[in-house]
Amino acid sequence: MLVNAKEMLTKAKAGKYAVGQFNINNLEWTKAVLETAQELNSPVILGVSAGAGKYMCGFKTVAAMVDAMVDSLGITVPVALHLDHGTYEDCYKCIEAGFSSIMFDGSHYPIEENIAKTKELIDVCAQKGLSLEAEVGSIGGEEDGVVGMGECADPDECKMIADLGVTMLAAGIGNIHGKYPENWAGLSFETLDAIQQKTGDMPLVLHGGTGIPEDMIKKAISLGVAKINVNTECQISFAAAVRKYVEEGKDLQGKGFDPRKLLAPGTQAIKDTVKEKMELFGSVGKA
Ligand code: 13P
Repeated sequence: MLVNAKEMLTKAKAGKYAVGQFNINNLEWTKAVLETAQELNSPVILGVSAGAGKYMCGFKTVAAMVDAMVDSLGITVPVALHLDHGTYEDCYKCIEAGFSSIMFDGSHYPIEENIAKTKELIDVCAQKGLSLEAEVGSIGGEEDGVVGMGECADPDECKMIADLGVTMLAAGIGNIHGKYPENWAGLSFETLDAIQQKTGDMPLVLHGGTGIPEDMIKKAISLGVAKINVNTECQISFAAAVRKYVEEGKDLQGKGFDPRKLLAPGTQAIKDTVKEKMELFGSVGKA
């Protein structure tokens, strides 16, 4: 059964570790993340972006697949199914589809409108038992080949949104999605510290987990980050493992073309990446 992210993140914040959100793209991805979480006895959040949802034939298909997989794999660790960077409309679609958690990314709206829409969604989520993540200060990244630098959120705006009663808050602290450019200035711990001072117990979310050095991850957790999102890193390790298989000509040997064989090294590579992150984030054994 899916759970919302409230309890696992409250525990993580209090225990000074972080729960990983791993974005899923297909059945292999989902299986790899769920099996690793179970093996390591770690809580986990499966992230689904609008694009990945569309690719997997819609949010309803995703929710049905995840729900059934948790059951058939005998997964007993807490699993939340979470919409990543949702638009207002997609939030409603995921609530309807059976997700247990949503992120409303209202960061591009003027703060008043972000607040009004966030409030409305908080009420709906409270009625239905879902957790809700909000975002302040947009998180940059690569879009059409242009790499935007991560913005830093205004701690007062963070407090305003946190006080509305969101479950978790994503705040820009110089982080970006995708690979970090050579000249990246690093995370702004000054901003993170100021946000945590103003928001107290609120679990903070660090997006763009790919490529952040280990010491920065640890410091961010010590300053209140309780959820870390990872997407690109699993894609890179999956692609590298599948490429190796093909380059070694294994798809041409025997029945090596069978997708169950062809995709097996990629699936294992996702498991290895997820394991590495769960160990780094400190969520192992915390289910
Ligand atoms: P990365 O792709 O940089 O790991 O970021 C993932 C993310 O933040 C999803 O919201």
